[in-house]
Amino acid sequence: MSERAFDLTGIDLHYGFVKALDGVDFHVEQGEVVAMLGDNGAGKSTLMKVMSGAHRPTSGHIAVHGREVHFHSPHDAAAAGVQMVYQDLALVEAQDIATNLNLGREPLRKGPLGWLGFVDRKAMREESDRELDLLGVRTAPMHRPVEMLSGGQRQVIAIARSAVRVTGESNGILLLDEPTAALGYEQTRLVEGLIRTMAGRGIAVVLVTHNLPLAFEVSHRIVVLNRGRKVADIPTADTENDHVVGWITGSRPSMFASA
Ligand SMILES: Nc1ncnc2c1ncn2[C@@H]1O[C@H](COP(=O)(O)OP(=O)(O)OP(=O)(O)O)[C@@H](O)[C@H]1O
Ligand SMILES: [Mg+2]
Repeated sequence: MSERAFDLTGIDLHYGFVKALDGVDFHVEQGEVVAMLGDNGAGKSTLMKVMSGAHRPTSGHIAVHGREVHFHSPHDAAAAGVQMVYQDLALVEAQDIATNLNLGREPLRKGPLGWLGFVDRKAMREESDRELDLLGVRTAPMHRPVEMLSGGQRQVIAIARSAVRVTGESNGILLLDEPTAALGYEQTRLVEGLIRTMAGRGIAVVLVTHNLPLAFEVSHRIVVLNRGRKVADIPTADTENDHVVGWITGSRPSMFASA
C-alpha cells in the first residue's frame, strides 16, 4: 500500500507498577483499516490513547507521516490529523445533533451578528446534513437533542463527528475504540460502511473491537495484543478466526520471538 500514517516503535507504558504496554511496534498506512484485538485489559485502549495524545508512553518513538512527534495532549494529536472516538464518548446532551457535530468549529453568521459570535444554525444544519450524507450516515433529524437519542444513535453521532473532522484533514487518521459495542445490527452496518468510506478516501483507520466477524469483514490487517505485548500482526486475508482467538486467549504462540 502507501505511506505509513502512524508508526510506533518500542512503546512501553507503565501505570505505576502495571506494565500496560511492553515494547509494542504498531503502524497503519493511509487508506488501511487495522483491527486491533485482544482480551479485556490487553492494552488496546492504552495504545489508542498513546496515539491520540491522551497518554504519553514511558518509552518508544511515534512518527506521523514519517515525522517524529511528541504529543502532549489530544489537541496536539488533532493538529496532526488524528481523531479518536473514545470507548466512553462525550456528547453534549442538551444540544442538538448539528451542534454536537460542530462543537469547537461552529460557523458564525455573516455581518455584525457573526462578529458578536452568533452561530449560523441554518448553515450548520445544512452543512451537517451534507456531511452525514457524504458519510452515508442517517440517524435522526439534525435538530433533535442528543438526550432524545438512543445509546446506539449517540454512538453513531460520536463516530460521525470524528469522521467529519478527519475528512477535513489531508492524510487523516481515525481511531475508533469499540465503536460498535453498543450497536445493534443496522447501526453496526452503518459504522462498517462509514469505516469503508473513510478508508476509501485514504484515511487510516484503527478499529478496536471484540467483534471478530466485524474485524474480519472490514479490516485489511489484524493486530492482536496480549497482556501488553503484540502477539500477532497479519494481513486479514492470511489468517482465520481460530488462529486469532488463539492469539487473543494466549493458547497460540506469539508470531514474534519473545525476548
Ligand atoms: N488509568 C489507569 N490506571 C492504572 N491502570 C490502568 C489504567 N488504565 C488501564 N489500566 C490497566 O492497564 C491495562 C490495560 O488496560 P486497557 O484499558 O488498555 O485494556 P483494553 O485492552 O482496552 O481492555 P478492554 O477490552 O477491557 O477495553 C489493564 O491492566 C488495566 O487495568
Ligand atoms: Mg479498552
